[in-house]
Amino acid sequence: MSRPDSDEIDLDPQDWDAFADLAHRAVDDMVEYLRTVRERPPWKPLPDHARAELTEPLPRAASELTDVYDTFRESVLPYPTGNIHPRFWGWVMGTGTADGVLSEMLAATMNSHVGGYDQSASAIERQVIGWLAEMMDYPTSASGLLVSGCTAANLTAIAVARRVKANFDVREDGLSGVGRPRLRIYGSCETHSWAPKCCDLLGLGRQGFRHIAADRQGAIDLDALRATIHADRAAGDLPICVVGNAGTVNTGAFDDLTALADLCIEEDLWFHVDGAFGALAALVPELRPLVKGLERADSLAFDLHKWGYLQYEVGCVLVRDAGLHRQTFAMAADYLQTPGRGIQPEALEMTELGLQLSRGFRALKVWMLLKTHGTDRLGQMVGQNVDQARYLAARIEREPQLELLAPVPLNLVCFRYVGPYLSPSELDDLNQEILLRIQEQGIAIPSSTRIDGHFALRVANTNHRTRREDFDALVDGVLSIGASLTAEIEAARAEAALVAPV
Ligand SMILES: Cc1ncc(COP(=O)(O)O)c(C=O)c1O
Repeated sequence: MSRPDSDEIDLDPQDWDAFADLAHRAVDDMVEYLRTVRERPPWKPLPDHARAELTEPLPRAASELTDVYDTFRESVLPYPTGNIHPRFWGWVMGTGTADGVLSEMLAATMNSHVGGYDQSASAIERQVIGWLAEMMDYPTSASGLLVSGCTAANLTAIAVARRVKANFDVREDGLSGVGRPRLRIYGSCETHSWAPKCCDLLGLGRQGFRHIAADRQGAIDLDALRATIHADRAAGDLPICVVGNAGTVNTGAFDDLTALADLCIEEDLWFHVDGAFGALAALVPELRPLVKGLERADSLAFDLHKWGYLQYEVGCVLVRDAGLHRQTFAMAADYLQTPGRGIQPEALEMTELGLQLSRGFRALKVWMLLKTHGTDRLGQMVGQNVDQARYLAARIEREPQLELLAPVPLNLVCFRYVGPYLSPSELDDLNQEILLRIQEQGIAIPSSTRIDGHFALRVANTNHRTRREDFDALVDGVLSIGASLTAEIEAARAEAALVAPV
């Protein structure tokens, strides 16, 4: 805005009181939006008027902020993915918290660059990393970083593994070169797709990730793992790392992390654990045996925007040996020199632990979450989600038309509707249609996967707003839609039989 006393402009409001009025209105609207979330369907499609509004050409002229806010209210706010809703259990999405809304606003106001520097935001990130390590029973001497999510956290950790375990200087020379072995990373076939993607980005190629068979419980087959490592070595490849799963994306299964830690010592491999959501089981005393061995990992990745219930985006990577972590990412430059005093007395600590130079104040929402709720209540919440998943599984087992497709060790439930006299592919189609109708009718948002080749309705419960009756509503919806679709199929068959030539 230009000022009466200057020909220079800035982007601050000309009328701070008017800005405050709008900001207060926005806060009131957002609080109301959260308070009434249950009264709306979890999802509805983006209507044409909103789609048109959201494809307008680049604005060259300024608009009133109040008008922009009105457009937001009419065309943006009513059409979210819906993961703040109590009946959203698709993929693995977090709900977000009310205090998270506030902390996002506070962090945005400070707009700190958290690359390092002598400032409160960096001190908070350091503190939060220490707290998170303690929460996981991981050594508090470990270094760590908050990143955009678990894909980024896993990638960061594997970059450290690659540098440490390659028998040549990866940072200086890269992976190419005559006589260089192919680097290999191992994990179960239940490992999330971040792993081959990460191998691709780190130059190992997608083939660099070796999918090892899993048992009926979804845990890695240790004999098959050992045999593959040995066969690869015999073929001249260089095994560098094993990924252990603490909660697989399909069913929430856990690998035997203690056995993997032992194997990695025997085979001189980096042991990384992907605990995107499952690592949070560490907060629940009864579930702790599941994560046993995680504390022995060389690196650990997990999210806070899933089972930490926080707003997107925030994941965490922890690396046991802080020196190895730093040596993987530190990069000197004239414009980043460290004079020992002033605002940047030392090297930019956080930028030496990951890819990003410019970084935001993600740590504030984690700090506020942990201080506001405490780990006891968060553990209670995680435990409640697991109990709710068991409640859903029990209800499914009581319904003759429903079939549980996988064990429920944690918070994930995979099931399907089983109509009479249907072939496997007809059952898949039927369940796909049930899923779409459940979503489109605004009943709930589960997602899907395939279990043993069968299409499965999949519920991932990382939702702090869900109540048991929400799962009853889901089951009632699946039963009713399944019954009417089955009736349609039977009617079509009867009609076909009538018109079929004799
Ligand atoms: C087990 C597992 N690992 C990694 C990821 C990737 O995490 P993000 O989506 O935060 O990148 C997911 C996502 O659902 C996951 O379930």
